[in-house]
Amino acid sequence: KQIIKLGLMGFGTVGTGVVRLVQAHQEDLQKQTGLGIEITKILVQDAEKSRNIGSMEGKLTTDPAELLEDPEIEVIVEVIGGIHPAKDFILGALERGKHVVTANKDLMALHGAEILNKAQEKGCDVFYEASVAGGIPILRALVEGFSSDRITKMMGIVNGTTNYILSKMSQEGAEYADVLKEAQALGYAEANPTSDVEGFDAARKMAILATLGFRVPMKLEDVDVKGISSVSKEDIAYGKQLGYEVKLLGLARRDDEAIEVSVQPTLIPKTHPLASVNGVFNAVYVHGEAVGETMFYGPGAGELPTATAVVSDLVTVVKNRKLGVNGRGMVAPYKEKVLKDDSQ
Ligand code: NDP
Ligand code: HSE
Repeated sequence: KQIIKLGLMGFGTVGTGVVRLVQAHQEDLQKQTGLGIEITKILVQDAEKSRNIGSMEGKLTTDPAELLEDPEIEVIVEVIGGIHPAKDFILGALERGKHVVTANKDLMALHGAEILNKAQEKGCDVFYEASVAGGIPILRALVEGFSSDRITKMMGIVNGTTNYILSKMSQEGAEYADVLKEAQALGYAEANPTSDVEGFDAARKMAILATLGFRVPMKLEDVDVKGISSVSKEDIAYGKQLGYEVKLLGLARRDDEAIEVSVQPTLIPKTHPLASVNGVFNAVYVHGEAVGETMFYGPGAGELPTATAVVSDLVTVVKNRKLGVNGRGMVAPYKEKVLKDDSQ
């Protein structure tokens, strides 16, 4: 049987989900792609840590070179998170002609252009569906499903941790600090949860959505951000009395002159569909000139939902490899040429 070998970087919440899904769906993945998928090595920080999946122990390493310098490894799945060292690992993988799948919104929002340009130069695929809204295939929808339309507005609940916190504060009168701890224990929060609660994670996701949806490069520093750390139980209760739910809402809209992207706690009328998106669920509302209103809904974080996005990207890379079309994947419009085309 023909096999494609992959190196997994990171074996935390998402990495564990990736291993579980690849193991559980091995046969089906092979049917879809025509190739067997083997996780050959796994990069971790602490090789002595006890893991949920025993069968992978012999594959763990703390040396990135064991993955990057292995010519048999064709795909790197990066689920470490953060900028350093993930960025060097991804650029190093591309430099060596390896395809990349990542869940890293920090990196794609800040350095997406550099990474995607390197991928194009090397004829490699880079996919990052899991970076926005966990298990909802929203990036594919924007790039492929709306390619015939002109998106004018997107609104999203795109951070699972803060939505989990706000929902529990609203529904159970729970304390902010207690629910944040729960979200961390469930694996929803970022390594540094300040990113979640201060709105930075949502801002990175909105920058990615705006870049792909509007087909223009969106700079993170142009996103107005306010988080939920100053939202009190009293604010939420008062809003409820008036018929509103408080949600951390990302908004991206454009007209002929400008693009505006922001993230802030927002009072949403209870009758609006976004008001009933609760817990770790995310939702993205997309308005296209031709299609009108659409809405995407699903789990925004967590081990298996996020892993579905990562492994689906992996399937695309493997299918592309089988067809010999790697490097023509979901490339964001970061290149100047594409920008000029967009404005014609
Ligand atoms: P975790 O913190 O659970 O796991 C991180 C993994 O990376 C761990 O296995 C850790 O090793 C390893 N690691 C950390 N630093 C290094 C390093 N310097 N060298 C090698 N390995 C390292 O993170 P998550 O799985 O939650 O998140 C991973 C990525 O997925 C992030 O980009 C995150 O934003 C994104 N994401 C997460 C979601 C979620 O629900 N958790 C949803 C969508 C995206 P060790 O195990 O030894 O500590
Ligand atoms: N910390 C992120 C969240 C993980 O809570 O939404 C998913 O991107």
